[in-house]
Amino acid sequence: MTRHFLTGAELTKDELNRLVERALELKRDRLASRALEGRSVALVFEKPSTRTRASFDVGVHELGGHPLVLRGDELQIARGESLRDLALVLSRMVHAIGVRTGPHEAVEELARHAGVPVVNMLTREHHPCQALADLVTLRERFGRLDGLRLAYVGDGNNVARSLVILGELAGVDVAVSSPPELSLDGRPAVSPENAASGAHALYADVWVSMGDEDDTELKRELLTPYRLDEALMAHARDDAIALHCLPAHPGEEISEGLLYGERSAVFDQAENRLHAQKALLELLVG
Ligand code: CP
Ligand code: NVA
Repeated sequence: MTRHFLTGAELTKDELNRLVERALELKRDRLASRALEGRSVALVFEKPSTRTRASFDVGVHELGGHPLVLRGDELQIARGESLRDLALVLSRMVHAIGVRTGPHEAVEELARHAGVPVVNMLTREHHPCQALADLVTLRERFGRLDGLRLAYVGDGNNVARSLVILGELAGVDVAVSSPPELSLDGRPAVSPENAASGAHALYADVWVSMGDEDDTELKRELLTPYRLDEALMAHARDDAIALHCLPAHPGEEISEGLLYGERSAVFDQAENRLHAQKALLELLVG
């Protein structure tokens, strides 16, 4: 049966733990696997990307495969061709399809019609590849996942939702602190300080996600008290790390000092996208 990775909930706890360990093995020996030898992976981008695009492109290459990067605005879907037909056609040519788009229903539609694995490279609702890499970063820093405490502070968005789904599957206690107007799926309000108290990691994301630009002023106003800065970090454990999925706006959702300082694991997170997604592609395609 074709396996997809749309929210992360497709994985069992054991599979998730094995993926995290495999990602760290591949980090130690980047060219250890040729799982995609002679295979191609389509990477469809309907939205901008730096990390996701670079990490999937390089990752497929390092696994011996061919990355086929396709911009949505250059495909016939921009002129009305259906996602169903895109899925049917690409499935005849490639061995997996990665998609970054707006509505989550779009990746579900592709997956319904694809004969090869579909990987969600970000939708408005979910960003599971990011959360997978974040678990690799936590495992790398703390030597375990089970029992860790992660506090996400900010908009109740795609990144927050994926951290909850994958974090909880891995045994990480994920607290989400958002203004009530931006709460994640109606979760009860918790203050940033309460969420941060005793946490191993504090996590921030942009205040304004892709596609939310119409709400920029409102979000800035609501999210100003939900910044990840040194004062909030003082509530976390002494060995706590600062996380951010990037792109960052230093001085807004995260202080410059935390982003670039000693407690930052942010650029490890970015690098771990590569290793985590290689492990994922091995599982789905290899
Ligand atoms: N974190 C992340 O997905 O970054 P990009 O939008 O640059 O891919
Ligand atoms: N929440 C952000 C994540 C970017 C990687 C967005 O959707 O734009």
